Amino acid sequence: MARITASVYTSHVPAIGVAIDQGKTAEPYWQPVFQGYDFSKQWLKENRPDVIFLVYNDHATAFSLDMIPTFALGTAAQFAPADEGWGPRPVPTVIGHPELASHIAHSVIQDDFDLTLVNRMTVDHGLTVPLSLMCGQPEAWPCRVIPFAVNVVQYPVPSGRRCFELGRAIRKAVESFDEDLNVQIWGTGGMSHQLQGARAGLINREWDNEFLDRLISEPEALSKLPHVDYVREAGSEGIELVMWLIARGAMADIAGGPPPKVTHRFYHVPASNTAVGHLILENP
Ligand code: DHB
Ligand code: FE
Repeated sequence: MARITASVYTSHVPAIGVAIDQGKTAEPYWQPVFQGYDFSKQWLKENRPDVIFLVYNDHATAFSLDMIPTFALGTAAQFAPADEGWGPRPVPTVIGHPELASHIAHSVIQDDFDLTLVNRMTVDHGLTVPLSLMCGQPEAWPCRVIPFAVNVVQYPVPSGRRCFELGRAIRKAVESFDEDLNVQIWGTGGMSHQLQGARAGLINREWDNEFLDRLISEPEALSKLPHVDYVREAGSEGIELVMWLIARGAMADIAGGPPPKVTHRFYHVPASNTAVGHLILENP
């Protein structure tokens, strides 16, 4: 049986990818950001999963206004890094897990969540930056990765509640896969940031830290927060945080198990325009 052993949460910022790719991680501006992931890189080496189910958002890269799937499951054998305007990042191609992805599709769709199945797509900074933060610069990513893209760019976006319930369904799907696999689920994006308009540059440390507290201790209540609260309090791009609720909904305590262990917590402002938040939660 496959099992979800841990969930990882982290912000993504394109400039973080550039800093890694151009060897700038030790510069004074960037050092405090990357220092928060030193523990995490070591932890991931010691707790290497077979598969990462990576919840992220595409930024009008693989998708566009031509086609806007709310929840898109990557079922392909591989996913190349996208060209976001400066050529593809020099990072490994993502190797998928079509068998597990297909099983999750069957289970979750029969559980009444309408997923879009994607057999061909490239992956942008929303997926590659979290992998770089957690893995550094390896020749190949350390395990298979199933990309799961959530629309948080074009309204209407899914509610936190639906994301949380989807996490529950993903957990059930993984646990009914008939192969011994160690699976981690990652929720990425956020925390507070707004990239455009009169409030561009908005950061809300207090709200972000309360979000981290509540994600740990009362995720179900947190999932009821309306999307307009994210936008008001954490900026227009703060809505990326609903994706963290998918990962949290897949943890053991949500299905009646023991509460997760808080293995690591980190918060730093700023990285580009964004507040960087990071958590590792482990199922006991
Ligand atoms: C930034 C943050 C994002 O989440 C993103 O998708 C693009 C840019 C930023 O802070 O620069
Ligand atoms: Fe983003």
